[in-house]
Amino acid sequence: MLNAAPLSDNELNAWDRDHFFHPSTHMGQHARGETPNRIITGAEGVYITDRQGRRSLDAFAGLYCVNVGYGRTKITDAIAAQAVALPYYHAYVGHGSEPSIRLAKMIIDRAPRGMSRVFFGLSGSDANETNIKLVWYINNVLGRPEKKKIISRWRGYHGSGLMTGSLTGLEAFHNLFDLPQAPILHTEAPYYFRRADRSLSEEQFSQYCADKLEKMILAEGPETIAAFIGEPVLGTGGIVPPPRGYWNKIQAVLGKYDILLIADEVITGFGRLGSMFGSDHYGMEPDLITIAKGLTSAYAPLSGVIVSEKVWRILEQGSDSFGAIGHGWTYSSHPLCAAAGVANLELVDELDLVRNAREVGTYFNSALAEAVGSSRFVGEVRGEGLLAAVEFVRDRDGRVFFDPNEKVGARITAALLERGVIGRAMPQGDILGFAPPLCLTREEADIIVDATKSAIEAVTGSL
Ligand SMILES: Cc1ncc(COP(=O)(O)O)c(C=O)c1O
Repeated sequence: MLNAAPLSDNELNAWDRDHFFHPSTHMGQHARGETPNRIITGAEGVYITDRQGRRSLDAFAGLYCVNVGYGRTKITDAIAAQAVALPYYHAYVGHGSEPSIRLAKMIIDRAPRGMSRVFFGLSGSDANETNIKLVWYINNVLGRPEKKKIISRWRGYHGSGLMTGSLTGLEAFHNLFDLPQAPILHTEAPYYFRRADRSLSEEQFSQYCADKLEKMILAEGPETIAAFIGEPVLGTGGIVPPPRGYWNKIQAVLGKYDILLIADEVITGFGRLGSMFGSDHYGMEPDLITIAKGLTSAYAPLSGVIVSEKVWRILEQGSDSFGAIGHGWTYSSHPLCAAAGVANLELVDELDLVRNAREVGTYFNSALAEAVGSSRFVGEVRGEGLLAAVEFVRDRDGRVFFDPNEKVGARITAALLERGVIGRAMPQGDILGFAPPLCLTREEADIIVDATKSAIEAVTGSL
């Protein structure tokens, strides 16, 4: 037990405002107490509870991560038992712990074909940093030091570090931070709804994206392009499934110029789309895969880079020629996080959550489209598995977007919260996003849909 006495609401609020520097928060408004802070005290199933005793259905699973839902004692017991047995030992110079080794095996058993080894980190961002370092290392080992540029997509989200913030293609993550800094290029987002030429079919738009990518590669010089990174479904950029044929066409271009594919599966890994991996879902054949969130369902921070056999062979060659790899984190494969990962993946299987994501996801997406798709302020309802988004527009037929200053997406998300459901106002555009836990039931899906319809009507009624 901690020695500290319980804090009053006033103390907690004051300490929060005076000492806690929150991520992705309006710093001034929070510090001055102009915005409500919400202190979460507990959670069970798909519901969270705050200090005022208010329950909300968490239809975003935290930050698309609590895939198995809250209150899973199988995972918390595994963490506690591991803490007693061995809270920490590092993984450098070949050291290990049973849960980390077991977890690596479990991941490879579930990963797309051709995958070979897992490097563990703690966050999606650090895993993508590892990816970039590995890609550079590989090209140095192969004697082509000029092949270093990485192509990402506008609206991609790959983290908020220096390199990963540069990969990210969202303005809010660049502005005032002097990003993108590194040799990162951004190409067209596969965002069919926002395509410039509205006469294009999905297949044609996919071809347009692939052609644009190829033009960029040729303009830069294929000998300078090392890798392409993409999320199977654009996540934070708006929850946008790819247009038909997209990944096939992109991969054809990458193959032509010997460019590695990094599939950022931080959101899509371990079942969210109704397949174990998004790469399998869309027929992608990545060289490296980023994993995080669903690996432990966020019961403990853990990420990883899965490398293919082809990549692994070059890494081995590298250390045979140049010695041990100079890359690692103190907490790589932390035993507590690895124990959480093992219990979490067992639970995903025991509860058949990948199938549930597929079935309830299909139900949820069609119920959502039916309930709100005909509103004149809804431009598109889209999704895949247990990812969904509603995009709001001022004029549906002319596809006229709202002035961002009207904050329509944020207002609808706030109205939804008043109705007991948490969605996410996506950062760029008026888009309400959903990524509920994979254990969602049809009844819970109905609650989200009803609340969304009511929230949209309440806000758009005054527009
Ligand atoms: C696709 C993707 N990649 C990387 C990240 C970064 O992960 P983290 O916030 O754990 O650093 C995120 C986070 O949302 C993500 O969605």
